[in-house]
Amino acid sequence: MLKKVALITGAGRGIGKALALRLAKDGFNVVINDINKNDAQKVAEEIKRLGGKSLAIVADVSKKDEVYGMVTEVVQEFDRLDVMISNAGIAHVRKIHDITSEELEKMFQINVFGVFYCLQAASEQMMRQGGGKIINAASVAGRRGAANLSHYSGTKFAVVGFTQAAAQELAPHGITVNAYCPGIVDTDMWKEIDRGFGYYLNLKEGEAMEDSIRKKVSLGRAETPKDIEGIVSYLASDESDYMTGQSIVIDGGMVFP
Ligand SMILES: NC(=O)c1ccc[n+]([C@@H]2O[C@H](COP(=O)([O-])OP(=O)(O)OC[C@H]3O[C@@H](n4cnc5c(N)ncnc54)[C@H](O)[C@@H]3O)[C@@H](O)[C@H]2O)c1
Repeated sequence: MLKKVALITGAGRGIGKALALRLAKDGFNVVINDINKNDAQKVAEEIKRLGGKSLAIVADVSKKDEVYGMVTEVVQEFDRLDVMISNAGIAHVRKIHDITSEELEKMFQINVFGVFYCLQAASEQMMRQGGGKIINAASVAGRRGAANLSHYSGTKFAVVGFTQAAAQELAPHGITVNAYCPGIVDTDMWKEIDRGFGYYLNLKEGEAMEDSIRKKVSLGRAETPKDIEGIVSYLASDESDYMTGQSIVIDGGMVFP
């Protein structure tokens, strides 16, 4: 049987890497994108060692031509693209008046423009094939504003918004569009966020993360990339065919005192 093909951006580490390994186990041929060549290649090699087919593609999702080039390369190699997971993103703790124009621009270039270019390029290919699934990385910060992460939060609200709009527009083409909204996931990204909060609140490494978990996460522990893979595996599978336009929160029951 023909294997389905998934392309995952920012899959060299963290959540994207976990999703790549899970979809490989689910039986997909998985294409690993990242700006970090070494990380992308290592994940692709790991999938091949597990018996799957994989390919690493270095591309910056904030560059439209690189995103289109990446989708073309996927189709040249595997003839199709069934699942596009726009996972690549950056975060940055900054108070509103400390955010420079360059920082604001970079945040939107990667987290919004990057996800949008992937949506455009992947859906064009999927329309030619008669369908597909697009899955975007949003965040709890895209469902509720997060102080000191305002520009990040704004990008994730944008992702939730165009996930809903694109779902309506692309439904007649057999394409579903959904998003996942994690909470506090123990990856390099949260290490960076922890350092950022630590700087403003004068806390030692790890303390901001611990404090946020204690105050906000009902299940009382940090989320791991593994906690997210089940829902994304479902969104990538035929079982989710009737679900579209949803941004699903998976955050250990976060409350905001
Ligand atoms: N970690 C969390 O707590 C958390 C919570 C909610 C949402 N998210 C979202 O989940 C996604 C993955 O987060 P993570 O924690 O694994 O982050 P991470 O920083 O650990 O990994 C992100 C990966 O994306 C790559 N990347 C960055 N810019 C890129 C670009 N322009 N083009 C291609 N690749 C690029 C990086 O090289 C890195 O490998 C992000 O969109 C993030 O906003 C994370």
